[in-house]
Amino acid sequence: MTANAPAFSRACELFNDDVFVPLEGILPQPVFVKIEALNTAGSVKIKTALNLINTMEKEGQILPDSRIIESSSGNLGVALSMICAGRGYDFTCVVDPNASARNIKIMEALGTHIVTVTEPDENGGYLGTRIRYIKRLLGEDPRVVWTNQYANPANAEAHRQWTATAIDQRFPRLDYLFIGAGTTGTLMGCVRHFRAHRPEVKIVAVDVAGSVTFGCKPGKRHIPGLGASRRPELFDPAGLFAMEMIDERDTIGMCRHLAQRHGFLAGGSTGTVLAAVLAWKPRLGKEAVIGAISPDLGERYLDTIYNDDWVKARFGEVPRLGFSPATAA
Ligand SMILES: Cc1ncc(COP(=O)(O)O)c(C=O)c1O
Repeated sequence: MTANAPAFSRACELFNDDVFVPLEGILPQPVFVKIEALNTAGSVKIKTALNLINTMEKEGQILPDSRIIESSSGNLGVALSMICAGRGYDFTCVVDPNASARNIKIMEALGTHIVTVTEPDENGGYLGTRIRYIKRLLGEDPRVVWTNQYANPANAEAHRQWTATAIDQRFPRLDYLFIGAGTTGTLMGCVRHFRAHRPEVKIVAVDVAGSVTFGCKPGKRHIPGLGASRRPELFDPAGLFAMEMIDERDTIGMCRHLAQRHGFLAGGSTGTVLAAVLAWKPRLGKEAVIGAISPDLGERYLDTIYNDDWVKARFGEVPRLGFSPATAA
């Protein structure tokens, strides 16, 4: 287990920062993929959740009778559900219709209260509506505490101290690191670490078309994980080498390619990040050492990305790898 990992006191808080897989066939050289799905809770988000709760406990913001609330497309909700159940906190997760049904079932099994908002916000997403709901509750009950993953520095700090350090230790040489942007906690934590210690590492931030985080036009998105209909407070483009936007059809094409050609059943954000790596193929050079973060696996997307009917209903056809010219192999 990683040297930087805390001494785990509960099984539900375990994570493993040491798994990197060389993925062949996307570029002439291997792409080193950091697999986060082997953490408890099945995603990168256990580290975010752990540091949010630890920090807020330490600062006296969470008390034994606190009622914790968070807005999550699923993975942070699952991770917080586990930690809250383990530590005896009441937890409510505010989700929207894009949240995976499996994640909701897991959270319910862990005793979490689920609230689903269905009214789109002014940008066509649901984040604004989810946050308005939380703010209303905060005004009604003084025991309610919002971990606020979009603005809480403890989110990025988790990834600075754990995720980025683990990547740094694994690669004596690293030229490019591709990272997806949701709350941008993973991204900002890595930017902070590498700017301070290895500024030569070029960080490419990846988001999906329809997200407003990088300043692009809002639009409809269907796959949870990456993207936001409201720019996360944590996001700061300083220190990024580049920002790349990927069409969700390329996400699906890449996910299905990885599953059927590589036996790698990837989650949606992994497909998006690797579609960005492929789009960058002409710019990377054959000698460059490339890393990419894979936040979760595909089991949670069997009814969506990997379901032909779901895909056809939203995109008209099942996209193949190379849907757009940028990702044509
Ligand atoms: C599957 C998946 N990928 C990527 C991300 C984005 O990570 P971050 O919020 O640190 O930007 C999330 C966040 O929820 C996620 O669930």
